[in-house]
Amino acid sequence: AIERTLSIIKPDAVKKNVIGQILSRFEGAGLQIVAARMTQLSRAEAEGFYAVHAARPFFKDLVDFMISGPVFVSVLEGEGAILKNRDLMGATDPKKADKGTIRADFADSIDANAVHGSDAAETAAVEIAYYFPALNVYSR
Ligand code: CMP
Repeated sequence: AIERTLSIIKPDAVKKNVIGQILSRFEGAGLQIVAARMTQLSRAEAEGFYAVHAARPFFKDLVDFMISGPVFVSVLEGEGAILKNRDLMGATDPKKADKGTIRADFADSIDANAVHGSDAAETAAVEIAYYFPALNVYSR
């Protein structure tokens, strides 16, 4: 099925100047970028986005990291977009990520792991709505 998923290129990858290289991987896999924006998250925005992780021990470090610089948020659309994006990203911990994945190639640690991607259809809908009003998503 044609799906949409939310992608965030995190502050570490933005600082490394690899936004374009990462977007090329999405396009090369047949995903289309149907919304995109660079933004500096506030602490409240980052906490809200990662609210499901609020009780986890890594929450404070995660939020501190996500507000350490601008991020590039986009909506990817295509056949099986959610799983396709997760395959492109590789495992959360770059040490465990398969060769050739975005995290294996660009991430430094489980915190500075280059990208975020929605993990399921329900979370994708919530995450997309968090950053993009429906009228700013340009479905093909
Ligand atoms: P992300 O896909 O953005 O979702 C939550 C983030 O928390 C995750 O990527 C990691 O960058 C970060 N994180 C740090 N420690 C852990 C952990 N032990 N398990 C899962 N995520 C972690």
